[in-house]
Amino acid sequence: MEAPIGEILISEEKIKEKVAQLGKEISRDYKGKIPILVNILKGGIIFLSDLVRELEILHEIDFMSVSSYDSQTESTGVVRILADLSINIEGKDVIIVEDIVDSGLTLDYIKHILLARHPKSLRICTLLDKRARREVEVPLDYVGFEIPDEFVIGYGLDYMQKYRNLPYVAVLRVNG
Ligand code: IMP
Ligand code: MG
Repeated sequence: MEAPIGEILISEEKIKEKVAQLGKEISRDYKGKIPILVNILKGGIIFLSDLVRELEILHEIDFMSVSSYDSQTESTGVVRILADLSINIEGKDVIIVEDIVDSGLTLDYIKHILLARHPKSLRICTLLDKRARREVEVPLDYVGFEIPDEFVIGYGLDYMQKYRNLPYVAVLRVNG
């Protein structure tokens, strides 16, 4: 079967440039602080691992696994926690690191859970913003790229758990 890789929306070079820029911005904003970067598995791992190597400040990382899509391309609206944080975030500066914000349902849910644990601050960093699909308004503090309403794969994003390893972000080609 041919790989369902369509148009490349964001090249490897563009991603690298943007991640470096975001790293600088976060380093400047959190100077003298030690933020905890909370990564949402699994899509966000590639972004996180590149992002932390651009940080010039001390920080910690932690992971949370949620599921809103069951191996399909449409949101079910149901968000389940599959694995929780290992660090107590009370009184800490927290930055959620996401691969993509689509309907915003997942992030809105996670945000409320984390806020209930009383962090000192909570900000959101996402590589991709599919703004046209938003169902819940979630303010984003750091955004890499705004993308059109297309299902994308690569750089951590999957289609049926595959293609996360592509170094770029491409549109999923259907019927091809
Ligand atoms: P939301 O709750 O609709 O904002 O969707 C959040 C999650 O759905 C993201 O963190 C992704 O894991 C997944 N997702 C949304 N759009 C895409 C896409 O275009 N490609 C791959 N995964 C996606
Ligand atoms: Mg995700």
